[in-house]
Amino acid sequence: MPVISDPYSFNEEDLYVDLQSVFGQPLFLKCEGFNFAGSIKLKPATEMVEAAERAGVMTPASVLVESSSGNMGVALSVIAASKGYRFLCVTDSRCNLSTRLLMEALGARVHVVTEPSPHGGFLGARLDYVRRECARDERYVWLSQYTNAHNWIAHYRRTAPAIARRFPHLDVLFVGTGTAGTLMGCARWFRLWHRPVRIVAVDTVGSVTFGGAPGRRMLPGLGMSIRPPLLDASYVDEAIEVEEADTVRACHCLARHGFLFGGSTGTVVSGAIDWLTRCDTPSLTAVAIAPDLGERYLDTVYQTNWIRDLYGDDVLAEDTLPHADYREIRSAPSARSPGGRP
Ligand SMILES: Cc1ncc(COP(=O)(O)O)c(C=O)c1O
Repeated sequence: MPVISDPYSFNEEDLYVDLQSVFGQPLFLKCEGFNFAGSIKLKPATEMVEAAERAGVMTPASVLVESSSGNMGVALSVIAASKGYRFLCVTDSRCNLSTRLLMEALGARVHVVTEPSPHGGFLGARLDYVRRECARDERYVWLSQYTNAHNWIAHYRRTAPAIARRFPHLDVLFVGTGTAGTLMGCARWFRLWHRPVRIVAVDTVGSVTFGGAPGRRMLPGLGMSIRPPLLDASYVDEAIEVEEADTVRACHCLARHGFLFGGSTGTVVSGAIDWLTRCDTPSLTAVAIAPDLGERYLDTVYQTNWIRDLYGDDVLAEDTLPHADYREIRSAPSARSPGGRP
């Protein structure tokens, strides 16, 4: 039983859900939501802050500032509160209400951008705001999760070795892609491992990360309106894109079995189940990463009116069907080769 005095000192690294009975496919879901920030972002946030402290960039007078769709903001709020730093989170109107309230409860200041920039979308508008704040006041320290190598290093040091310890015969790993920190840390680590692991990136339709056309994306966490600077596609074997309607269906399917996960988990699971169905090799050892849990999404992914308004009346019509029918109601999958490798 761990005893801690800092909220970032505890992270459940060894919890998996076996999804065979839910979806009829061999898939283990690594649960990253069991820590005081409630998401996988606690690891890169801790790594980035501690690296900045070691480099002498952070001083007691520093004010942390970061652009976040939510989870990195919560993780930095936890760390800033614990270490006594002030923190400004710049988010946009897609950030869940509960996530915003959570950051404020932890003492962070939250600025919500409501208008996308003409070329960079909401992310561009958020980054413009962060740059303006940093230019205005030299106490601001921007860790920049989109470009900071310590984002992926956290997953190289912690997430990937933890998976390899538990699954020494891993064949395929499914990783959702936002900043690409999780993807690149895991992909780099497994590239150096003693046996090959197929790395499959899972993204949202409407994200430009793997060359798709930009489009509406309502769920925070996955997808980017610019190509992620941390992404090196030569480490990625395959990239799949998932419609948000399928994300919602996968989340509700899991919830009907008592597992309430966040939106991006629905995306990763939906993409992974589809991939495993097409691959049809039951002996594969497959792991997918679930970045957070579902309580922050009660007013979006799990709210009937929100779902109907965005995705139509029928999106959940068949969600109680068994897994075989679940697969039939999915939209046609789209797959991309991110370049270099098949
Ligand atoms: C819920 C959720 N899922 C997935 C991701 C993507 O992780 P990464 O930024 O490491 O690509 C994030 C990142 O913010 C997230 O908040």
